[in-house]
Amino acid sequence: MMVDEIVTYETAVTQTLNQHVSVRAFLDKPVLDEMLRTVLNAARRSPTSSNMQTYSIIAVRNPETRQKLAVLAGNQKHIEECDVFVGFLADINRLGIASQMHGETLAKSLETTLVATVDAALVGMSVQTAAESFGLGAVMIGGMRNHPQDVAKLLGFPPGVYMVFGMSIGWPAGESPTAFKPRLPESLVIHHEQYDATDPRPRIADYNAMLAEFYGPRNQNKAAWSGPIAKRLNKPSRPHLRQTLEAMGFHFD
Ligand SMILES: Cc1cc2nc3c(=O)[nH]c(=O)nc-3n(C[C@H](O)[C@H](O)[C@H](O)COP(=O)(O)O)c2cc1C
Repeated sequence: MMVDEIVTYETAVTQTLNQHVSVRAFLDKPVLDEMLRTVLNAARRSPTSSNMQTYSIIAVRNPETRQKLAVLAGNQKHIEECDVFVGFLADINRLGIASQMHGETLAKSLETTLVATVDAALVGMSVQTAAESFGLGAVMIGGMRNHPQDVAKLLGFPPGVYMVFGMSIGWPAGESPTAFKPRLPESLVIHHEQYDATDPRPRIADYNAMLAEFYGPRNQNKAAWSGPIAKRLNKPSRPHLRQTLEAMGFHFD
């Protein structure tokens, strides 16, 4: 008779992923160039749409530049206080040059914008995981899309390049976390074969309560998930983004 076995699968990678937390406080301890290089080069193995590699990575150590980036991101101090700030750029400039090398003109479209943005995001996630596998801490910085043109000017981007998000990286200050920010329940985000559209409201309410418990009484304003999100999204966020990215050489149609 076959006995059902309960197998728990775990690898170094799933362990790293399961212990992810965003880190915003850093020790005054350098991330050595070789370690950073190892992390960034491992991330360059990420899959990329049609091998087009429509992204670039920029590492910024200069404190003055990071101070300016921190202001542009809405005064996010960890950009100044980390050891190295890394930006993930959607880069269709290089595609344009590659096309010109063959007498062609790059036909920019929503698809090229999406491909470049997705490529940048994939490599960024790989950097986060690789960095965490070394015990480094990191937090992604979407605040880089507050003022994309100023970021581009500060870092010398050519047309057709914008920073999708950045990442503050360094050695985490303080104790290793014992609690991890809970995620929405598995049943709400993982579907099998067919999308399960069963009323999500009870499970959202449960999640709100779980998140409130995670944050504790001092952070109730952050606590419930759906409430703050509803407030935040009752108007378009970054309403000028399309116009700005178009001025930077990206198309949305
Ligand atoms: C694309 C992206 C942009 C983000 N931007 C910021 C940011 O600008 N500032 C910040 O403090 N955290 C930022 N975060 C981190 C999220 O707030 C964080 O991942 C989320 O709250 C879950 O918490 P955890 O990563 O600690 O589990 C960003 C995350 C992502 C994926």
